[in-house]
Amino acid sequence: PKLVILISGRGSNMQSIVKAIQANELDAEVAAVISNCPNAAGLKFAQQSDIATRTLDHKNFASREAFDEQLMKLIDSFTPDYVVLAGFMRILSAGFVKHYANKLINIHPSLLPKFKGMHTHKRAIEAGEKEHGATVHFVTEELDAGPVILQAKVPVLENDTEEALAARVLIEEHKLYPDALRLLIQQN
Ligand code: GRF
Repeated sequence: PKLVILISGRGSNMQSIVKAIQANELDAEVAAVISNCPNAAGLKFAQQSDIATRTLDHKNFASREAFDEQLMKLIDSFTPDYVVLAGFMRILSAGFVKHYANKLINIHPSLLPKFKGMHTHKRAIEAGEKEHGATVHFVTEELDAGPVILQAKVPVLENDTEEALAARVLIEEHKLYPDALRLLIQQN
């Protein structure tokens, strides 16, 4: 199966997927990495890995719909089987989500349905959670609410900081995303 991966920044989850493919741990191909931010650090890694990269800057579009329309055209030019959101920090319009029904996947740094949205690690600590983690899920119109594919858990420690907890979760994310994609690919 062909993947198109969307990023906005660091791209460490994208890297973990690319590395899993290179290590023959995931039977897939990354057709392109697309960023909405021209200076996303992850673009460099993708280029160095001989993966096609594209930038589509949302700032050049008058509306979300206009950006999403162009993004769809760009993604479809690579004919992917799955569109993988990996730290892509844009909310996608209903038309976009519908166009990629059952093909659009996201990773969210919480144990959904807990802590949808931003600042998940801080909120988990403030809520006194004993467990936290990350979720790979299908994207539906409602933010961070689509069917769960796989989750990974970490403990929340006494006197945990947002940074320490985020780092603990991220280590798990890097295993979780390849694992979830493998599961999905094996089932289809
Ligand atoms: C990850 O924590 C991911 O769960 C969240 O944004 C972060 C992206 O990190 N959606 P990276 O760009 O993959 O390094």
